[in-house]
Amino acid sequence: MTLPNGITIRSATSDDDAAVTRLADTAFGMRLPSGLQSPATRVFAIEDAVVAVDGGRVVGATKAARMTLTVPGERTVEVCGIAGVCVAPTHRRRGILRAMYTEQHRRTEADGLPLTIFTVSQGTIYGRFGYGPTVRENAVSIDRRFAEFRPTAPDPGGVELATLAEVTDQVRAVYDRWRRIVPGAQARPEARWAMLFADPAEFRGGSTDLFAMVHPDGYVLYRYGRAQDVNVAEVVEMRTVTPDAHAALWRALLGLELVTRVDTVLTDNDPLPYLLTDLRLVNTTARYDALWLRLMDIPAALTARTYQRDLDVVLAVTDPFRGAGGSFALTVRDGIAECTPTTWSADIELGIDVLASMYLGAYPARTFAEANRLQAKDSATVRAIDEAFATERDAILGWFF
Ligand SMILES: CC(C)(COP(=O)(O)OP(=O)(O)OC[C@H]1O[C@@H](n2cnc3c(N)ncnc32)[C@H](O)[C@@H]1OP(=O)(O)O)[C@@H](O)C(=O)NCCC(=O)NCCS
Repeated sequence: MTLPNGITIRSATSDDDAAVTRLADTAFGMRLPSGLQSPATRVFAIEDAVVAVDGGRVVGATKAARMTLTVPGERTVEVCGIAGVCVAPTHRRRGILRAMYTEQHRRTEADGLPLTIFTVSQGTIYGRFGYGPTVRENAVSIDRRFAEFRPTAPDPGGVELATLAEVTDQVRAVYDRWRRIVPGAQARPEARWAMLFADPAEFRGGSTDLFAMVHPDGYVLYRYGRAQDVNVAEVVEMRTVTPDAHAALWRALLGLELVTRVDTVLTDNDPLPYLLTDLRLVNTTARYDALWLRLMDIPAALTARTYQRDLDVVLAVTDPFRGAGGSFALTVRDGIAECTPTTWSADIELGIDVLASMYLGAYPARTFAEANRLQAKDSATVRAIDEAFATERDAILGWFF
């Protein structure tokens, strides 16, 4: 496809590899360690990228890979994951992103994938393409010196210290159990395991290499670093399948006596603050969206997940970017949904980006109604939809891409 301004949008080939890497490094202001640039350590194959070319030069790129995503109800769905979206600083605001996205979404639709997911760099750009933030996370700092567990907090034990090399199989097995039950989590491809276990020095931010603690149903990988003149344990990844594993690993981490602070990322409903005598010690330092999502096929996406209560609603969904919207009758019985196009009048009107935010249960319809981004025939309908879309577990992004 050639745009009126002469820029061509086409599939990338291996000949574009160096130019795409240079463009991405320039746009994101970093260099991927050279040892991790071989095809074996890549999640996103160059042949699956879309590039924009001007006079023979690559001036834009988007990468994509098929991912296995868990949605509410412990169901897994094949989705498209987009990454590495970049346009040369010399070619901004000429419609190159829009053209690359149009082509990428055409491919995703042709592949029959119901959802596209994406970790975005800026909050203002992607709503117009039908994306909404769908996983939220809190960066927290815990002053370990004052952390005490409540007398009722579980103390199951079972944690062992290990080197990363000793526990790679165990970590992989626990992660795989974990990601199957947590909405928003993806299966982790070999290339991303290789990256995690290689633990490149360039990605440590001056802190140590990874330390590990394991439990039969959980693990934590963390580093020691310094910040504001104190010793900090920086949690890189904690995954727990049971409340006992969660409590046991937190008891071990908060037992690191020469550490002043433990930094980690928690979801809104993580039980850690409620295990402690002083919940204020779990101090939120930042709150952000970790994953954005777009519904490619509304009936396929809405029937892929389960729901927490029966529902009979008609949703009128607008999708200015791709025209995948329309009116849909959503009926839920015993958690299982049917969703079909309908001509009935709508109970709820909303943008496809808002539906995307609601999809994994982290952003309630009530909030969008109050912001006038969702119109409902009455408040009972909003309450019903929020109860139905609620999830047993908070959505979490499995691994960043
Ligand atoms: C973000 C980026 C990809 C945009 O590329 P671009 O080719 O300039 O975007 P386009 O010209 O196609 O713009 C598409 C739309 O997004 C809007 N837009 C683009 N960049 C925007 C920004 N920074 N803030 C707000 N809106 C923006 C445009 O106004 C346009 O709107 P419209 O089509 O509704 O009129 C490019 O600036 C870039 O590479 N930035 C650095 C890397 C980055 O942030 N990548 C995103 C990774 S998540």
